[in-house]
Amino acid sequence: MATYIVLLGPPGVGKGTQARILSEKTGLAHISSGDLFRENLKNETELGQLAKSYMDRGELVPDDVTIRMIRARLSRPDCETGAILDGFPRTPAQATALEKMLVDFNGEVNAVPYITADEAILVERTSGRWTCRAHGHIYHEKFNPPKKAGICDVDGSEVYQREDDKAETVTKRIRVYLEQTMPLVDYYRNAGKLIELDGSQAVEDVTKVLQEALAR
Ligand code: AP5
Ligand code: MG
Repeated sequence: MATYIVLLGPPGVGKGTQARILSEKTGLAHISSGDLFRENLKNETELGQLAKSYMDRGELVPDDVTIRMIRARLSRPDCETGAILDGFPRTPAQATALEKMLVDFNGEVNAVPYITADEAILVERTSGRWTCRAHGHIYHEKFNPPKKAGICDVDGSEVYQREDDKAETVTKRIRVYLEQTMPLVDYYRNAGKLIELDGSQAVEDVTKVLQEALAR
């Protein structure tokens, strides 16, 4: 059986940061739907163009295209043992689709870490975030600055501020999250898979609690 972990939580809470660390520790592939859209945008694909119109407004990309993109990604060889899903599913329809597709990928959702923090923290984290152009490595000007200003520690590419990290777009994304993604919290809680974590602590502390919880 393959292992699938779904990271749930509001914009800017630290899903991508924790997913990357967990992926390094477990060897499971890190799949971020937002990163996949941004990669498509960079490569100027049709999907990228479509996604951009929604992302810039802080709205969700339609379920059908998102589900198709994730299915294609999960069928790649590096997901044979499973994956850490970051930012997907985000609607009840996506959760149902995931459940169905994982049957084909020899697994099921095993655990759903749900990371939370107050809105003020989410705004502070997104407004200071710097993202690496080449591979999406994540920094923060105050909490996790790159060693050399403006340059990614890992691959030397430039870091940039995401278009959708403007304060008004972040507020919109939080609203969209509350309306469309919050129902998944109950869905996974009822399934006995939800692991609630306080995301307002430092990165290392969240990692520690997350790993202890997953080990149980
Ligand atoms: P996406 O890229 O997934 O954005 P998001 O869910 O809003 O989450 P973020 O990436 O903003 O935050 P994060 O939780 O990953 O935090 P991070 O680790 O970076 O989606 C973008 C858009 O794509 C959506 O709006 C939508 O349009 C579209 N989309 C994506 N998935 C979709 C789907 N399934 N369906 C439809 N549309 C979809 O951390 C944030 C910052 O805080 C960083 O600077 C980091 O260094 C810092 N930080 C992290 N942890 C800590 C800590 N513990 N202490 C201090 N600082 C910290
Ligand atoms: Mg992210």
